[in-house]
Amino acid sequence: MEWGMKNRLSRLIQKDGKALFLPVDHGYFQGPTHGLEKPEETIKPIIQYADALMLTRGVLRNCIDPAIEKPIIMRVSGAVTVVGEDLANESVVTSIQEILRLNAMAVSMSVFAGTKYENKSLSNLAKLVDECEDYGVPVMAVTAVGKELEKREARYLALVARVSAELGARVVKTYYCKENFEKVVDGCPVPVVMAGGPKTESQKEVFDFVYDGLQKGAIGVNLGRNIWQTENPVASIRAIRAIIHENYTPQEALDLFNQVKAGKA
Ligand code: 5RP
Repeated sequence: MEWGMKNRLSRLIQKDGKALFLPVDHGYFQGPTHGLEKPEETIKPIIQYADALMLTRGVLRNCIDPAIEKPIIMRVSGAVTVVGEDLANESVVTSIQEILRLNAMAVSMSVFAGTKYENKSLSNLAKLVDECEDYGVPVMAVTAVGKELEKREARYLALVARVSAELGARVVKTYYCKENFEKVVDGCPVPVVMAGGPKTESQKEVFDFVYDGLQKGAIGVNLGRNIWQTENPVASIRAIRAIIHENYTPQEALDLFNQVKAGKA
C-alpha cells in the first residue's frame, strides 16, 4: 500500500484499530431530515467524539469550518430522492478533482445488491475505486440490499460486503444482524463498520448491537440517526465511543449515558 493511502486510512482508523465515523449525509436523498435541518448545529456538540465526519460536498462547503481537524469522508454518490422512482438508481456525483480540492480523507458511495440497478451501482464503485486509487484516496462502500432481501440476513449482507471488497473498496459499511454477523465480517477481507439504521426504541439496543458487532470483528461504526436523532446526542455518542475505544460493555455504556445525561460526567 502506498504512503498516501496508508496515511489517509490511519487518520480514519485509529491506533487501536477501531473507528467511530459520524455520518450526516442523509440530506443527499432525504432533504432536511429530522435532526439535520441545520447540520452545523447538529455536529457542533458531538464532532469532538467522532473519528471522522461523513457528508456531501454541499454541506461541507456551506456548513463546516475549514479549520476542522476531523478527517472528512465525502459521500460522492447520489442524484436520487425519496420521492423518485428508485433510490438504487444513483450516480457518482463528485469528480476526483473536487474530492482532492476539498481535502477528503476518503469517499463513500452506496451499492445496492439485488436491485434493478445492481450492475450500475457496482460498476460505479469499480470506476470510483480506479479513480481514487490513483490518488491514494480510500473508498468506503455503503452497502445495501434490495427490497426483496430487506431482512438484513447475514448471507445477503456478507454477499454485498464481499463483492464490494472484491471490487476494491478499502472499507465496507454494512448493517448489523443478530444471527451470524461474524460471517459478514469473516467473509470480507477489508475492515467492516456498522450503520445504525432508523432510531431504535431504546439506547440500550444500540449499545448492545455495537458491542456484539465489535466482538464479532467489526472495527466500529458509521452511525448517524441513533446519535443525532436521540434525546441526548452527546450522551449517546460518548457511550458508543466508550464501547468502541474503551471496551465498555453495553451496561457500562448505559451507565455512562445516564451520567452524561444527568450532567455528572
Ligand atoms: C445514509 C447513509 C448513512 O451514512 C448510513 O446509513 C449510516 O447512517 P445511519 O446510522 O443513520 O443509518 O448512508 O445516507
